[in-house]
Amino acid sequence: MEATFSQFYKRTPEQRLAILAETLGLSEAEQQILKHRATQGDAPLLIENYLTTYQLPEGVAVNLRVNDHEYVVPMVTEEPSVIAAASNGAKQLAKAGGITATVHSRLLTGQVVLSDVKVYASIDDWIALHQNELLEVAKQAHPSIVKRGGGPKSIRTRDLGEGFVSIDLVVDVKAAMGANMMNTMLEAIAGVVQNKLHHTTLFSILSNAGDQSLTTATVSVPVSQLADQPDKAQQVGKRIAQASRIAQLDPMRAVTHNKGIMNGVDAVVVAMGNDWRAIESAAHAYAVTDGQYRGLSQWQLEDDQLTGTLTLPLPIGIVGGATKVLPLVAINQKMAKINSPEDLMKLIAAVGLAQNFAALKALVTNGIQQGHMKMQMRSLAMSVGATPSEVSVLTKQLSNTDDPNEAQARQLLGQIRNNKET
Ligand code: HMG
Repeated sequence: MEATFSQFYKRTPEQRLAILAETLGLSEAEQQILKHRATQGDAPLLIENYLTTYQLPEGVAVNLRVNDHEYVVPMVTEEPSVIAAASNGAKQLAKAGGITATVHSRLLTGQVVLSDVKVYASIDDWIALHQNELLEVAKQAHPSIVKRGGGPKSIRTRDLGEGFVSIDLVVDVKAAMGANMMNTMLEAIAGVVQNKLHHTTLFSILSNAGDQSLTTATVSVPVSQLADQPDKAQQVGKRIAQASRIAQLDPMRAVTHNKGIMNGVDAVVVAMGNDWRAIESAAHAYAVTDGQYRGLSQWQLEDDQLTGTLTLPLPIGIVGGATKVLPLVAINQKMAKINSPEDLMKLIAAVGLAQNFAALKALVTNGIQQGHMKMQMRSLAMSVGATPSEVSVLTKQLSNTDDPNEAQARQLLGQIRNNKET
């Protein structure tokens, strides 16, 4: 095996496929699928050992109103009902006047970590004394960001205990996500620390915490809007607030509550060519800020208004990295009217809030299955091999079934095909 894969990265995608077909026993049909999805665009250059392109569907959520502007939001997801729910939530929140979104700050933090520190105060004093010099070194390491009006802003130390100290650098990364520029600056600072402070550094890397890139989306919905009859509307408002409260009390529920928010957040982050693992990590770390994992959003009922708030760390970028090489990103940015990273941060937080509203409302009224399963039927139909022309007929038949499952789907598909033949 080792010999087979030695220098694998130097092969062409076709050669890699041939090796995999032989060693893993891929059928002709499986090879054809992999070949068919291989593109001649930039994808082969984006990653290592490129083989094929794994495609995910992109759709658009509509109806989103943020800060008095209407948005169409590109979303990339494999999950049925996510885009419908985002559009549904957005429509109801737009009727209430729309979402207000604010960016609190937009800075990136990075760490140079020292180990085996005997006296923290000596490191802290040295950094404080040399902070201007260190900031200058960071600027010199990446002068182009300084020309664009950004660059290193501050430096400080934190005692992590057990002899570890973190030197934190804060950088204004302007429109970029900033990982590369940050890491370059940190490594330059680490060089000075090693040469002048004579202390070995353990590692230097940005932090994905995103706690200096917080964005808040808020909305107030008149309770009367939540159902046709006043009593029922009051009940729905109360139940949404209670569902949100449970996510504050119970980490088990908070995980699912936040997963619902991330359904929308990730889909936009992917569509915009950003690193969704970074956004996921940041969001979940933020959810545990006070020591307990809690829901990222909160809904409160006061008098005749249901008010929802969602704050998220969103250290995203609109230039550089994959945003530059994935051709769809520029089109997606245009469709979503993104002209600045702040625009994108507000949009993502707003989608997260709309997504959460739709999910909670469904949960506390008809239950998630009614709406979600309607759309899951399409996936079920496809999973048993229905062709595009058979999917809608089979989906309809499955929706009329009490407890649709794979066996039934196969049986119904068989009947559809038999009827066609006769
Ligand atoms: P409905 O009440 O049947 O929708 O909702 P409607 O017919 O009244 O339509 C309202 C709007 O929804 C439409 O406006 C569309 O914008 C949109 P219109 O076009 O009529 O002006 N809409 C659709 N958009 C695209 N395709 C469609 C479609 N249908 C409606 N087919 C719906 C049906 C599923 C939207 C609703 O029940 C809903 O929002 N449910 C929530 C579903 C959800 O959250 N899915 C995510 C997966 S579940 C999950 O992972 C998260 C969760 O666990 C999180 C948590 O626990 O907190 C639930």
